[in-house]
Amino acid sequence: MANKDQTDTNRMEKIVSLCKRKGFIFQSAEIYGGLNGCWDYGPLGAEVKRNLKDLWWRKNVLERDDILGLDGSILTHQAVLSASGHVGGFSDPMCDCLLTKARLRADQIEPQSGIAYHFTGASHEESGWSVDRAYSVLLNQPNQDENKARKTAREFYAQFLTDKQIPAKKLILVGESTSEEKEVTHYNPENGSLLTEPRDFELMFKTQMGASADDNDPNATAYLRPETAQSIFVQYKNVMDSNRVKLPFGIAQIGKAFRNEINPRNFTFRSREFEQMEIEYFCRPEDGLRLTDEWLANRLAFYDEIGLKKEKLHVLDIPDGERAHYSQKTYDIEYDFPFGQQELEGVAYRGDYDLGKHKEHSGKPLEYFDEQTKERFIPHVVEPSAGCDRTILALICEAFDEEDLTKEGGKQDIRTVMRFKPSIAPIKAAILPLLKNKPELVEKAREVKNLLQPFMNVFYDETAAIGRRYRRQDEVGTPFCIAIDFETMGLEEGKEDLKDTVTIRHRDSMEQERVAISELLPWLLERIH
Ligand code: GAP
Repeated sequence: MANKDQTDTNRMEKIVSLCKRKGFIFQSAEIYGGLNGCWDYGPLGAEVKRNLKDLWWRKNVLERDDILGLDGSILTHQAVLSASGHVGGFSDPMCDCLLTKARLRADQIEPQSGIAYHFTGASHEESGWSVDRAYSVLLNQPNQDENKARKTAREFYAQFLTDKQIPAKKLILVGESTSEEKEVTHYNPENGSLLTEPRDFELMFKTQMGASADDNDPNATAYLRPETAQSIFVQYKNVMDSNRVKLPFGIAQIGKAFRNEINPRNFTFRSREFEQMEIEYFCRPEDGLRLTDEWLANRLAFYDEIGLKKEKLHVLDIPDGERAHYSQKTYDIEYDFPFGQQELEGVAYRGDYDLGKHKEHSGKPLEYFDEQTKERFIPHVVEPSAGCDRTILALICEAFDEEDLTKEGGKQDIRTVMRFKPSIAPIKAAILPLLKNKPELVEKAREVKNLLQPFMNVFYDETAAIGRRYRRQDEVGTPFCIAIDFETMGLEEGKEDLKDTVTIRHRDSMEQERVAISELLPWLLERIH
């Protein structure tokens, strides 16, 4: 069952640090202090992302006869998002800390209990300054020093001082009273300060289009799409007509989405710019519920295939009242991240809501005509909607391992290994000549590199001792290291039969085997897909 609260901050810190050190993920605009909620994938991260997206596309588009691809525009017509309900409706409740001005999502504040200290104002005797304004502080720990509440209140009132030379501690608090509070959410859990009333915060990024656009021209307004789904709905008829498809069929899209999240957090988990991998699967109304269950099973099989452990995945059947009003069934697939159990993907049965809305707002016929039954109707939709960046984060968290290889009585030896599935690993094979000062070894190693490079991402490394080079590859998750040694050259006495073979060292078991260079490419291709 859910272990929402089980977190491992230390592990997460190590993962974030490795991501930067090895070039998986960097903070966007880091040299300028960082752009909050935005991330750049480094050379290795970009490979992992490409591998994931290629695999998702292969499984969901290339290997199926009933799903077609789409690559819609990011800039979105305001009418599309008005029809979908996003304009004016896509917001999160937000409140501000009255003391620090930190912005919090009101629906994510953990309920707290304790004693609240209320004040009606503050004054400063010597200058005659005073302020009348209600303020409260919650002490949510047993036996907390009540002076902490007063100190916080003084800091709050000090913000209104005109003479900034007056220290907060010189203020006299007015009208103190207390109350016992149970399970309340209007205090900042960080410092106990009262929060503002929740208000809606628009999550979409708005922009103005065209050379003559000015801020007041409503017709020039466009949005960065908040989900990839809407262009699929809007193009469903064009896709259907241009490809002569029959129900059930799906349209798949991978692409960027943008949300001005109030609190981007947990590394890339909640970002302001992220990528989605979405399918809208159109079907007859009577098939919707069955297909929702089938898609759930299909998506769980995908996660298994890419290497997320079954026991770390949880399916939440969202109960009545918590689902969108038009959805008869919604499953959330959650994963045990080091910062707790959190959503990876939603599989939602959306009925005919989206196509119905676009038909209503555009005035265009969006019905499907069934040639056999001669019926005309709006298809229903099942939507498996996955986060690409969240899946990558899950893959990185799953892969990260520290193996203790310390020998008895020896120096501590911890091997950091990213245990990616070979299909996900950024580098498939490292090519390592045993010694860099032996031209024949280097030449042979380069030959092997040239042989493999057109087919996969390989890495050539001739620096440092071979053991160190193996460890460096373990840290970035390279499943196979290929060593070119004297046996490869047929120079080892008594082992002449090993000429033109290489040593393959396996990342996980650290075991080694010899493979003929002539067999190397098929050997690897079989294992990396
Ligand atoms: N079309 C349906 C839709 O967009 P959603 O639950 O809002 O549904 C789908 O988003 C998936 O997109 C989520 O399960 C998550 O994986 C990903 N996602 C949503 N917001 C995100 C964010 N701020 N940062 C990263 N991924 C996000």
